[in-house]
Amino acid sequence: MTTPSGDTAMLAVRYEDVEAIMRDPRFTRDLSAPGSPSLFPGDSLSADRSFLVNMDGPDHRRLRRIVAAAFTPKRAEQWRPEIRAIVDELLDPIEQAGPPADLINDLAFPLPVRIICRQLGVPAQDSVRFRAWVEAFLSVSGKSPEQRDLAMKEFTEYTVELLARHRAEPGDDLVDHLINARDADDRLSEDELVSMTRGLIVAGNETIANALSRVVLVLLMRPQIWRTLVDDPSLIPAAVEELLRVNPPGRIGLLRMATEDVEIPSGVIRKGQGVLSPLIAAGHDPSVFPDPEEFRLDRPGNSLVFGAGPHFCLGANLARVELQESLAALTERMPGLRLTVPPEELPWSTGLWAVSLRGLPVTW
Ligand code: HEM
Repeated sequence: MTTPSGDTAMLAVRYEDVEAIMRDPRFTRDLSAPGSPSLFPGDSLSADRSFLVNMDGPDHRRLRRIVAAAFTPKRAEQWRPEIRAIVDELLDPIEQAGPPADLINDLAFPLPVRIICRQLGVPAQDSVRFRAWVEAFLSVSGKSPEQRDLAMKEFTEYTVELLARHRAEPGDDLVDHLINARDADDRLSEDELVSMTRGLIVAGNETIANALSRVVLVLLMRPQIWRTLVDDPSLIPAAVEELLRVNPPGRIGLLRMATEDVEIPSGVIRKGQGVLSPLIAAGHDPSVFPDPEEFRLDRPGNSLVFGAGPHFCLGANLARVELQESLAALTERMPGLRLTVPPEELPWSTGLWAVSLRGLPVTW
């Protein structure tokens, strides 16, 4: 395919190719060398050389080890009650005001940013600024390069101040863990520390907001499945996996480049060639998921929605808990939930990076 920046890239469409590309370290995410392909002009996420997802090899492993302890399944489970409490806090005013409501503005967007605020130990009211920065950072078509640069500058300044505050008054937040990992044996450079904090804010926001809105949309378009979950909430964890497979938040995925000729199941990718491995393609490969558009609660296998290999999503456990608790609260508190407009009238963003719902009007 031709990318929006005019480069060519191979597009993997089979499960085994997507998985091979994601697992093989010979496909690099470091696209900083001159002549490397790019996905679109002004791809600011890929340009951040000190963020995890753009690094390879020992540097990547070192950074990942430092933050991994904050994202284990156990840690995510510890967060579960607090996540449910935040979901309930967001649903209270919606319920009190009565229908209709917009689940994007009132739940999907505020939720992940509120959770990240708690994890980073910053006030919840800062979430409004995070949201604006993250949006400017990720959506390419909506903002001018100047607007994006300004957002990036403010975001960086905020992160630097946040780190300084935590240095002055240490606590037990994620930021403190990152600072200690650096200060104790100098493993994170200052740039890496800023980037990691900023990167976690970005990585944990749009993805969850997008995933939650898509997950709820799929359910509201299949009312019989919604009813099944209302009647039996123990099915919610399995439903989340299948919902993410059917309608994953990431569309095209991140661009990689072959550092040498690499053989994957469908052929050879030549050195220097850009390659995309969209996870939606993996999750819809009919040889792995027969009748892929059909929602089935008993599908075996992994749809790769959180990636695979060295860059496997660090936030997967947390993301699962956030989605499960959101569905648990919605099915319990709003069992009659339904859309107020036909699905084809729903507004979508025009961002190249993340195509997301801009409104989800519902009643109950
Ligand atoms: C449903 C929500 C989410 C989905 C579908 C998702 C998906 C992914 C995928 C597919 C990757 C791998 C990208 C690649 O290798 O090309 C990834 C990486 C990553 N994700 Fe997530 N993610 C989600 C939520 C989160 C959250 C909540 C956080 C953090 C709080 C997070 C943090 C990260 C980080 C740091 C990486 C880079 C890991 C590395 O390079 O070692 N993600 N995510």
